[in-house]
Amino acid sequence: IEAHLTVDRDFEIGPLDRRLFGVFVEHLGRCVYTGIYEPDHPTADADGFRQDVAGLTRELGATLVRYPGGNFMSGYDWEDGVGPHDQRPTRLDLAWFSTETNQVGTNEFMSWCKQQGMEPMFGVNLGTRGADEARQYLEYCNHPGGTTRSELRRSHGVDAPHAIKLWCLGNEMDGPWQICRKTPDEYGRLALETGKLMKMVDASIELAACGSSAYDMPSYGVWEDRVLEHCFEVVDYLSLHSYFVKPPNDPSTASFFAQIESNARYIEATVAVVDAVAARRHSAKRIMLSFDEWNVWYRARHGEHMKQEGWPQAPSLLEEVYNVEDALLIGGMLTMMINHADRVKVACLAQLVNVIGPIMTAPGGPAWRQTIFHPFALTARHAHGMVLRAVIRSPGWTDAKQGELPYLCASVVHEAASGKTAIFLLNRNLEQEMALTVNLRGLGGEQRLIEAQQLQHADLQACNTEAEPDKVRPAPLAGIVIEGETLRVRLQAASWNVIVTK
Ligand code: AHR
Repeated sequence: IEAHLTVDRDFEIGPLDRRLFGVFVEHLGRCVYTGIYEPDHPTADADGFRQDVAGLTRELGATLVRYPGGNFMSGYDWEDGVGPHDQRPTRLDLAWFSTETNQVGTNEFMSWCKQQGMEPMFGVNLGTRGADEARQYLEYCNHPGGTTRSELRRSHGVDAPHAIKLWCLGNEMDGPWQICRKTPDEYGRLALETGKLMKMVDASIELAACGSSAYDMPSYGVWEDRVLEHCFEVVDYLSLHSYFVKPPNDPSTASFFAQIESNARYIEATVAVVDAVAARRHSAKRIMLSFDEWNVWYRARHGEHMKQEGWPQAPSLLEEVYNVEDALLIGGMLTMMINHADRVKVACLAQLVNVIGPIMTAPGGPAWRQTIFHPFALTARHAHGMVLRAVIRSPGWTDAKQGELPYLCASVVHEAASGKTAIFLLNRNLEQEMALTVNLRGLGGEQRLIEAQQLQHADLQACNTEAEPDKVRPAPLAGIVIEGETLRVRLQAASWNVIVTK
């Protein structure tokens, strides 16, 4: 099959916010304990953090990390996770029916986060708690000193304020599973009053309100509208969450890949709702989107509300093992999100380690890259600068829900300072190679190839495991011909690719 991609230097979507390459660390299963943190592990540093996982996290190139939840956040008492380790309480975690030892808390996490060079996105508990605890927690984290809460932090050995800029006002407050779920009016009022107090404590912070916990929630749209009707003035972002599934009644790869378009629709519909709230107020303010949970997640979902017996510590939960098909979808989702860079400013792949994560670990043993690690790492490495509008001409197929879809998904990001252009390409045709012509108008006469990689495997179900950690990995993409502003390449069937020119 043949396809064409055209971009023009002057046709800009908007600058890419590097916070699009965020991840998520929740106190859930083995994400924290035996994930990022395992004091007895041979690679652990003096603070107990696994350096093999730290190294892979840096290689992943994540720019931001959301913490401490998730559903966990709605029952979390932040005071439990600070101060001397031997005095920290052990609690029941009602979100995941586990036992939480609180050995990792705010200060440990922040020192890990700084070591990794990532920006934190913290959350406050608007389930069991509210505005008062949120303002106290913020004072503990961000106030320089001279007050009870900030001096408490200093007495815990953290002299300089953490300066955490980005905060989530609760998590998935519309979900029946959520600890102390709220109605949109209850939550909207609480988000307003909590946000008001938090911005009084530290005017430099940015706040994300909870949107619906999924596009297919029955109250989607109404929830966003009602919530923002209350808290529009105080918040900066609205959250979106999306987990991609393969429903048993439609397990085809083509429908799986069509979720790229359904998620594009989710973003565009949410922009419409938040802008309608602005329109009613005659407001020029634009609420941006924080897509702060997204990934493939459909296999490791067991039991109603994940209920398990015995209140285990750090059980194996949500340990999805990813295959090639999943990696291609993740690569395609990234192209789609990049193409919405004018409104999506923050995004978090959920999560980082073991729990629906790009990195897996064996307790006491090795850590390895899941298949989805690769498109994320390559995109995070190469996507810098201005997103250009990708105009696609490609054959395609008709999806029952999404209609006519092109086989080709693409995004193009150009960095003026370095002169580099990164082109991200997914060929969704499962059988046929794609002969692609790319026109790079106005990007400077003679382009030359800097780097090209492809992710492809004969078996779409192939996975990386402890025994075979590198079965699926990118390989150089050969055969690219560039003449002036025109680039020609053949993309293998079912492949995700990145090409960097200059
Ligand atoms: O990421 C796993 C869980 O999915 C999060 O805790 C919750 O916010 C979502 O439902």
